Amino acid sequence: MVSLVSLLLLGTLGLCAAIRVALHVFNRRSRTLGPDLTHIPAIGNTGVFTSWISAFQCLLHTDSFLQEGYDKYKGRCFRVPELTRWIVILSGDLIPEYLLQTEYTMGKTAVTNAYHIPLFRKITRNLDDYFPQLRHETARLLDNHLRGDAVGPEWKPVVVSDMMFDVICRATNTVYVGSKMASNDEYVHTCIGYSNEVAKITAVANLLPSFLQSLILPFFSVNHYVRKATHILRPLIEERQGGRHDLSAKFGRDEQYDDFLQWAVSKAAEQDEYERDPVTLTRRILLSNFVTLHTTTMTFLHALLHVAANQRYVSILREEVSAVIAEHGWTKEAVDKMYFMDSLFKEVQRFDGLGCLTLTRKARETFQFSDGTVVPKGAFLAVARSATQLDDANHANAGVFDPWRFATAANGRASGLREPRDDLTHADPTSLGFGLGRTACPGRFFAATLMKMMLAHMVFDYDLAFDPKKARVGEESARPINKWFSGHCIPDPAAKVYFRKRVPV
Ligand code: HEM
Repeated sequence: MVSLVSLLLLGTLGLCAAIRVALHVFNRRSRTLGPDLTHIPAIGNTGVFTSWISAFQCLLHTDSFLQEGYDKYKGRCFRVPELTRWIVILSGDLIPEYLLQTEYTMGKTAVTNAYHIPLFRKITRNLDDYFPQLRHETARLLDNHLRGDAVGPEWKPVVVSDMMFDVICRATNTVYVGSKMASNDEYVHTCIGYSNEVAKITAVANLLPSFLQSLILPFFSVNHYVRKATHILRPLIEERQGGRHDLSAKFGRDEQYDDFLQWAVSKAAEQDEYERDPVTLTRRILLSNFVTLHTTTMTFLHALLHVAANQRYVSILREEVSAVIAEHGWTKEAVDKMYFMDSLFKEVQRFDGLGCLTLTRKARETFQFSDGTVVPKGAFLAVARSATQLDDANHANAGVFDPWRFATAANGRASGLREPRDDLTHADPTSLGFGLGRTACPGRFFAATLMKMMLAHMVFDYDLAFDPKKARVGEESARPINKWFSGHCIPDPAAKVYFRKRVPV
């Protein structure tokens, strides 16, 4: 009986909440409440009810909506419907102008006291020093996954998504918290769990009106992961803060504490109690994991799946890796000189990428573009990333995946033939994979080195293919189709690649 009453109560509450949401959203989508965007051309229906149908269609086929808008209004503003709002899309000449509007727009990551941003730049400056340790760790981790206990050169199927989350989390954490903590399984699982949970929250929150967004937190395990990570990191943080020297033997003095956590602890020491609290410092470390893990893993997987599908790619990359490491050894200099590898990742960012939008911002004040378009305070804006990068005007034969597109003059780098804009880490209005302008990704040099180093190890030491029977040059397999959700592009998480240790010739 009690459970029936509870059920009825819950049902009623649920219905009320649904009606409340519907009313709220209805109001926000009407022309009188919320920022008025009716002067900006729309893709899809604009009627109060019909726009809902378009919003659902846009959720499932965001790329088609954006492409239609881009084809019709390239270089001007247009808007596409999301479930709870319209979003203003920019392209062409408006992109550089948009970057100048920082006074009026707000980056998603423009959180108060973002002292971690310069710390990511410090990682870039220290990359040469980190390189030997990163090389050693990534080779060891990949070999563990790809060979395990195998003694002979047998083909081994590997679910590459699971493997790469693990390897990238451990490798990057050697730089964030030191190699001892980075090999702590419980810590690594907590970082991966936290990042997955935040990614899920972000996806769900984007479907909800803002007044409901803060209410969904209890339905996710983010706080559980924060508590768990704090429990694991607290002794290390307190030791770094100078209070627990007795633990130095446990965590290893050999590391000299020259890592992200130490820099964060030093920065926080100059600030108030809240910033010095181990919970706050743990959150910074988890945030670092979040910005790193999905972006780097997804980009790497996109590239790996292209390579596993085409043995000619394997052969070209292997030839390049062999040549540069014969000359420079396994050094950062060698990785910097892997131009075909560099081009492959840049092409993956152009062709697949993480999603069809980038640089999402909210207008803090009403402002006007030079073409006269007024963007009201509170409106959401974003740049049409995929459509821009798949435009023939920006890249010849843009609809074709050409892994060596940015390496055509690769061998001529010494003679100055290769343009800096061909570099993976170069960001401009036609190469938006790492964002653009003031908020362009500060971790891109780290990510580029790590991704190239890992793929170099794979092609140098292993044969790889989707189908071991098709592991000869000239053979191609179908690459698993990317999954799309709400504008996000995800390489097939279930994809399996076969690996076999290469026999030295
Ligand atoms: C292939 C891997 C990566 C990709 C594709 C990527 C992509 C991006 C993009 C597109 C932005 C700009 C977002 C915007 O302005 O709206 C960004 C910002 C950022 N990225 Fe990355 N990222 C990657 C790896 C990393 C790594 C390894 C780190 C840390 C070492 C990192 C740290 C950050 C931070 C802190 C920001 C915010 C910058 C700011 O707000 O000023 N990213 N990233």
